Amino acid sequence: ATAEKGGFASFMDKEIHDQPQAVADTLLGRFDPAGNLQLSEMNIDESLLKSIDKIVVIACGTAAYAGQVARYAIEHWCRIPTEVELAHEFRYRDPVVNEKTLVVAVSQSGETMDTLMAVRHAREQGAKVIAICNTYGSTIPRESDGVLYTHAGPEIAVASTKAFLSQVVACYLLGLYLAQLRGNKFRDEIQVILNELQTIPEKIERILTEIKPRVGEFAREHQDEQSVLFLGRHVGYPVAMEGALKLKELAYIHAEGFAAGELKHGPIALIDSGQMVFIVVPSSRGRDSLHAKVVSNIQEVRARGANTVVIAEEGDTEVEQYASEVFYVPQTFTLLAPLLTTVPLQIFAMDLATAKGLDVDQPRNLAKSVTVE
Ligand code: G6P
Repeated sequence: ATAEKGGFASFMDKEIHDQPQAVADTLLGRFDPAGNLQLSEMNIDESLLKSIDKIVVIACGTAAYAGQVARYAIEHWCRIPTEVELAHEFRYRDPVVNEKTLVVAVSQSGETMDTLMAVRHAREQGAKVIAICNTYGSTIPRESDGVLYTHAGPEIAVASTKAFLSQVVACYLLGLYLAQLRGNKFRDEIQVILNELQTIPEKIERILTEIKPRVGEFAREHQDEQSVLFLGRHVGYPVAMEGALKLKELAYIHAEGFAAGELKHGPIALIDSGQMVFIVVPSSRGRDSLHAKVVSNIQEVRARGANTVVIAEEGDTEVEQYASEVFYVPQTFTLLAPLLTTVPLQIFAMDLATAKGLDVDQPRNLAKSVTVE
């Protein structure tokens, strides 16, 4: 088993280290000789992709957080209204979908029954369904109109890591491809984003070599935490929820992810002395005021005694005055940041669970693939 784990202590540790490769492999082979994104492998008529007027992403668990990241990117790049819904909720609310709806079903295993039932329902309503899936020939891609495979390789640990990053990448590719097809963006703009995506594997590698040991040490010091909150805005919001999910799944610690803007509408009542709060901070190089807003959220929780753990972009020294701890990740475009900011949160959950003596590959009560509704 040690050999299968490539010398790592767990499959999860190995899979976290596989992430640069998983991202690179998911980008590989998706360009024509002229460097344009080419996703004809999806096998869906281009004229249809040009005419859709709504996208609905359906998924469960971690895959649904990949879908939430996708919504920000796809709406921004394509100007197509995009919804994300948990597959089991979508199926039972009589959703408005028709021939002009593109449904994107995200699933690592391709066997999640809730997602499969939602796919069937969407197709019955006339929607076209694209599966984003990591498992060749599994049921969800077979029952969809088209498929865009993620190339993360087999994921053994129950809690998803490299499949998540690959799902996010595949969603970006789909969004950029639709933008290219529909002429929403100029070729050179799309090229700039694709070039930046190509730098992500090396940036994840840097997190693994430069930041991982410190995150691990920090996690070991905090193995007695009873509750941890995670805040983020924009794409940092799904990242916060994914960080909380990892901690629940692996370390059995109560954890919640919140939209940082929602803090004052309720969650701030939870903050008292010593409460650990992770804050995912967006780039300070962005045009908008997102960064300033999140920095003031850090101050708000800090003023009430929170132990503030900040995930920020390298060079963002402004956060240091309000942070108990800062973990820096390399700079990238705001929309692509989840590929980097998620990684320290995965490591934190894994190392804390390991310190508690828990089996990070096989957490209690969970299954890798849930094939019942
Ligand atoms: C299970 C797993 C999760 C996973 C979810 C969706 O609940 O424990 O880690 O995110 O299913 O799985 P899928 O294979 O559809 O991505």
